Amino acid sequence: MKTIIEPFRIKSVEPIRMTTRDERQAILAKAHYNLFSIPSRDVLIDLLTDSGTAAMSAEQWGALMRGDESYAGSPSFERFESAVRNLMPFRHIIPTHQGRAAEAILFNLLGGPGLIIPSNTHFDTTRGNIEATGAEARDLLIAEGHDPQSLHPFKGNMDIARLEALLAKEQASVPCVMLTITNNASGGQPVSLDNIKATAALARRFGKPFFIDGCRFAENAWFIKTREAGQDQRSIVEIVREVFAHADGMTMSAKKDGFANIGGWLALNDETLASEARSRLILTEGFPTYGGLAGRDLDAIAQGLSEIVDEDYLRYRVRVNEYIVERLVDAGVPVMRPAGGHAVFLDAKAMLPHIPSLEYPGQALACALYEEGGIRGCEIGSVMFGLQPDGSEKAADMEYVRLAMPRRVYTQSHADHVIETTLAVHERRAGLRGMRVSKAPIRLRHFTCQFEPV
Ligand code: F0G
Repeated sequence: MKTIIEPFRIKSVEPIRMTTRDERQAILAKAHYNLFSIPSRDVLIDLLTDSGTAAMSAEQWGALMRGDESYAGSPSFERFESAVRNLMPFRHIIPTHQGRAAEAILFNLLGGPGLIIPSNTHFDTTRGNIEATGAEARDLLIAEGHDPQSLHPFKGNMDIARLEALLAKEQASVPCVMLTITNNASGGQPVSLDNIKATAALARRFGKPFFIDGCRFAENAWFIKTREAGQDQRSIVEIVREVFAHADGMTMSAKKDGFANIGGWLALNDETLASEARSRLILTEGFPTYGGLAGRDLDAIAQGLSEIVDEDYLRYRVRVNEYIVERLVDAGVPVMRPAGGHAVFLDAKAMLPHIPSLEYPGQALACALYEEGGIRGCEIGSVMFGLQPDGSEKAADMEYVRLAMPRRVYTQSHADHVIETTLAVHERRAGLRGMRVSKAPIRLRHFTCQFEPV
């Protein structure tokens, strides 16, 4: 087949409300140029996040009805647990209401003042949960990962030499080693099986437990299968099992590669740690057989996990972003290459060199995409990372706009609309103006701050 088609047909639809440019200009002004403040009914193509935004399958909707809402010992939990363990062979599977709840429990047990927790790149909730315990979250990404134009096949990899140096120098201060697959904060770039093995081996050599943030494990396995030497004959399930066999535990948001609208888990091999985690779970999430979820959510996740490893789905999933990136690159639009698993990252710093970082080129670009074509993306740059704990501002390394693809939601003509809109904004890029912050909370300002055009 020449065209990689959406490997599903649609049996339930939601209308998209069309808006005019004039309406969108008024909506933007009313939202003070913060896209988080725009009601979703005013968005044509919503690429704010791929988290919790997937379309469930008919089988998942069916599974919801099978959900058993017993407080303790629900069969929904048994189905959930065996679906997780089928892919990730951990001894203890502890459900949580979403990924950050698993992180909060894990780092409450392992974090603390003066400690350092290394990863390829921590996602911001992971970083937040580590820092909330007084520990430092340290990113040790390979150099190629910082270069938007590098075509390294595994730009999400851990820098093994720097990890080794850290462990050798600060052994007593490092309670565990982490790895995020795929590497969301640095472009949805994958981590190779080789790099996972090398990270695990180093952690073992220094006697440290090794945890994987596995939110996008299936996309990562697809990249291993298609890009890593000697992997193309293996099934996705085989690769996934091997990846997690190297780890001592994992945190997971089922809102990504669980195909669910809510949910997550913490998985562990260590008996003592698992027992402490369950005690905390009961305090903050719920009984260990539901962990803050309804029984029906557990069933939706169990079914979702059997669908996410489907190769036809993964081929189409990754192809959508490649298709967009190829067309943007052909037209000279600066984007992060190669295409990531869950998102396209536009390089606003390169596209809008006339806008200084602290006038937020990413925010200007995100607003222009909305005005032009009703597309909602997310700034990942100086708005998100520029505000320092002492209240001062510092430019972020990169100024990206992330266009994150909800799973199984949009079609190829929607992707074409994203391309056309981005090209139209690129054409008139010289006329885009920067932004200034007119009102901001003291932290995590990107969610609620207000802007005005410069
Ligand atoms: N880890 C990674 C790599 C993530 O991308 C996310 C969420 C989390 C952990 C936290 O999971 O949302 O279920 O609590 N990422 C979303 C995003 C919010 O838009 O990238 P959660």
